[in-house]
Amino acid sequence: LRRQDLAGKKVLITAGPTYEAIDPVRFIGNRSSGKMGIAIAEEAASRGARVTLVLGPSALRAKHPGIDTIHVESAREMYVRATAQFPECDIAVLSAAVADYRPVKVADQKLKKEDGTPKLELERTPDIAAALGEMKQAGQRIIGFALETNNETANARKKLEKKNFDLIVLNSLRDAGAGFQHDTNKISILSQDNKTRHFELKTKAEVAKDIINTLLPIL
Ligand code: C5P
Repeated sequence: LRRQDLAGKKVLITAGPTYEAIDPVRFIGNRSSGKMGIAIAEEAASRGARVTLVLGPSALRAKHPGIDTIHVESAREMYVRATAQFPECDIAVLSAAVADYRPVKVADQKLKKEDGTPKLELERTPDIAAALGEMKQAGQRIIGFALETNNETANARKKLEKKNFDLIVLNSLRDAGAGFQHDTNKISILSQDNKTRHFELKTKAEVAKDIINTLLPIL
């Protein structure tokens, strides 16, 4: 049995991609597998937490009996479920790769091929992280993620402050084996006290341990 250092804690985790419907068969999405968020859910549950996993369309499933999975498809659905759960939670881990834009209109029939090129009008999806950051009460903690390609640390620090996160996990696309779909990840964790901790390339299960271990002292 693992050390039950999250016993009594309730953890909300968002994971996976979101799909934003264009019509009944097409969507705008991304290549997130959900692996990192599911690994964090498994790690938190094995350390005694009760976990609610709000999971976008992913082929993967969480296995630990301490994890309650809510399946969602779109950013709007993820927003509704995450904001409803957060008030009862001690910790939110926002590892989902939420689509930033969705089609303004969703066609109720499959769109037909036509002459010329169709134009998709897009609008912003709700920012779940920003909403939870505004709802955050004393004693609650939020961990966000950032995937940056340039000025990584500076951009991640801006995001930490703007979205009222306590920690932000930065994954770099420049590192081989890190990020989307891989079983491994290479991260840095930035905290509110201006520290940046760098970690080696590891399995996502090991990365999940590092994230929880970094969170414990600020709970
Ligand atoms: O602004 P950006 O999308 O890079 O922010 C990344 C962080 O914000 C991640 O933790 C991600 O899960 C979260 N996020 C969110 N809702 C959005 C966009 C991002 O929760 N609509």
